[in-house]
Amino acid sequence: MAEQARKVAAHHDWLAATYDANYFEHYAIYHRVTRENLRRHLPPQAGSLILDAGGGTGIWALELAAWGYEVVLTDISTGMLAQARAKLTAQGLETRVRLVEADIRAMPELADDSFDMIVCQGDPLSYCGDHMAAIAEFARVARAGASVIASVDNRACVLNWLRQSNDLDAMRCLLETGQALTPDEQEALRYVIHAFTAEELRSAFESQGFEVESVIGKLCLAHRLDGLVASDPKIQEQLVELEQMYHADPAYYPWAGHLEIAARRSRD
Ligand SMILES: C[S@@+](CC[C@H](N)C(=O)[O-])C[C@H]1O[C@@H](n2cnc3c(N)ncnc32)[C@H](O)[C@@H]1O
Repeated sequence: MAEQARKVAAHHDWLAATYDANYFEHYAIYHRVTRENLRRHLPPQAGSLILDAGGGTGIWALELAAWGYEVVLTDISTGMLAQARAKLTAQGLETRVRLVEADIRAMPELADDSFDMIVCQGDPLSYCGDHMAAIAEFARVARAGASVIASVDNRACVLNWLRQSNDLDAMRCLLETGQALTPDEQEALRYVIHAFTAEELRSAFESQGFEVESVIGKLCLAHRLDGLVASDPKIQEQLVELEQMYHADPAYYPWAGHLEIAARRSRD
């Protein structure tokens, strides 16, 4: 498990300097759908405390801080945290966002029942090696009634890559365990991801005391079209509208690279 964390951190240290440019260039529609889904689940009070778990370079933490929230961003990659720190300083938001180098599977630095919302975007639950431990940690640090929004790798989409390479052993492993290796050409850099079915994702959160509000496919319709059309605002508008009409319908999940769950910590 320590080996998994070491590889994931090293991979993200390597990605850190180019992560934001890549994100904004290729994921304009993805970003909009994410932002609008986050906005639907924000705590009503300005100044509420939000955890950005596996928050990376702070794309979402910075937006949340700019919207008036206090944020704690945790991550295991020092490279990603360094990028986040530089942006916070440049934007004068360093008093609104606390950066903590921590593994989402165990965050002893964070107090019980302390967060009004938890955001976990861009698959940290798929990469962390033990998503049940991480979701239990979310349940521990969330206040009663707090919302959690997490995106994860979608098993159907990963299955589709493996079908294209005719790798039967890898397909069987994915179907039986949810696990697959990342496609890096260098063996030493490959690590295990956990890709979820919608049902598995729901029951993982329900088993830790969350009530599920929605599961969407992200993106069901514009996956891979995103970069091609991002510069045409009219097409972008139409795709966002179509996504939002259909992304909660399980019939369209198989095309989505990610699934995103919105849930709420039960009031005991
Ligand atoms: C694809 S990036 C997403 C970053 C950010 N949430 C976003 O949406 O832009 C995945 C992040 O998860 C972090 N991560 C992976 N496993 C983690 C773990 N066990 N604990 C904390 N962070 C982790 C990585 O270091 C990386 O910054």
